[in-house]
Amino acid sequence: MFPDHRFCIAPMMQCTDTHNRRLHRRLTKNALLYTEMIAVNALVHGKQINKLKFSNEEHPIAVQLGGSDPDLLAAAAILCDRFNYDEINLN
Ligand SMILES: Cc1cc2nc3c(=O)[nH]c(=O)nc-3n(C[C@H](O)[C@H](O)[C@H](O)COP(=O)(O)O)c2cc1C
Repeated sequence: MFPDHRFCIAPMMQCTDTHNRRLHRRLTKNALLYTEMIAVNALVHGKQINKLKFSNEEHPIAVQLGGSDPDLLAAAAILCDRFNYDEINLN
């Protein structure tokens, strides 16, 4: 089941972290929330898996991965799959 994209809070680097998203979720239960873009290099090689954590109240939530290497994007998407995101967005 795909999340509803009619109303989203855009991904914004250095802005839409978990604290910011929880504030947005208090403002509306209807928007699809995006993480800030997470660089796949940092995720796969830099072990920055903590960046993927979010609170249950943030659903529906999409993670945005940034990268240009298809293998790294795939490896990062597999990591994201453990976290139960509603969407994995590739940038
Ligand atoms: C501070 C800031 C950070 C942004 N970071 C991202 C990002 O990480 N990924 C992305 O796809 N777009 C990013 N954008 C673009 C926004 O997601 C959005 O597409 C843009 O602000 C246009 O939105 P609007 O058409 O509602 O004005 C960023 C924009 C801003 C202002």
